[in-house]
Amino acid sequence: MFLVANWKMNMTRDRIETYLDALERERLSSMLSGTRHQIALAPTHVYLQDLSREVLRRGLPVKIFAQDVSSRSEGAFTGEVSVRNVLDVGAVGSILGHSERRRYFQETDADVARKTSLCLQAGAIPLVCFGESREERDAGETLRVLRHQVAPIVEVVTKAFRENENIPVYLAYEPVWAIGSGKNASCSDIEEVISTVLEGFSWPVPPCILYGGSVNLENISSLAALENLAGLLVGSAWLDPETFLDSVRALS
Ligand code: PGA
Repeated sequence: MFLVANWKMNMTRDRIETYLDALERERLSSMLSGTRHQIALAPTHVYLQDLSREVLRRGLPVKIFAQDVSSRSEGAFTGEVSVRNVLDVGAVGSILGHSERRRYFQETDADVARKTSLCLQAGAIPLVCFGESREERDAGETLRVLRHQVAPIVEVVTKAFRENENIPVYLAYEPVWAIGSGKNASCSDIEEVISTVLEGFSWPVPPCILYGGSVNLENISSLAALENLAGLLVGSAWLDPETFLDSVRALS
């Protein structure tokens, strides 16, 4: 499984150091040996460089992801951070289109598709989030909304694939109502979404699909057992290194 901790706008230098100390002390590398799990941590942009260096220095088997990148490639866009910038300081990919960005910063499906395309062109791994709101689910609109969010991604992936057949594509199904609410989506709902996304489009390369939304120590094992699920994107629970380590143990 691909296990991604989305730290959001949390953590400070001290807390990051404590986190890495815990991973080192508990020998994350040996915990992972014999498993196919891969770990990624996603701090705010300002910590990307320090975190990448520290992870390397300590020999931790951890990839670094950004939480977002600009929809512009470079130039006079004050305050923006480009794909090239995050790659330059050690990130290998970026979360894109998280519902918090769509909701609080008015990101559109077109913005997310543009960011995905920039990542694929630059050799960064896009981890594209999609998911329905509570109202959409209650109105029976879930699959229609999700198809709408995913369709522009299929388009840019198809274009990028023509130039490079080795592009990695990761998606994360994150129902908005499940994020930070303590209520996760049911296994059958997740399975239905995964098969809709995999079978409802003609992907040039099948994407790896993660789930995110209130993953915790109680539900992680049953979620991870889902056949077509490639990983988990976790916010609040994995701000605590001990819970993160207990989760990895639960999956080993
Ligand atoms: P949560 O957040 O685990 O706190 O629900 C997940 C996410 O927003 O990626």
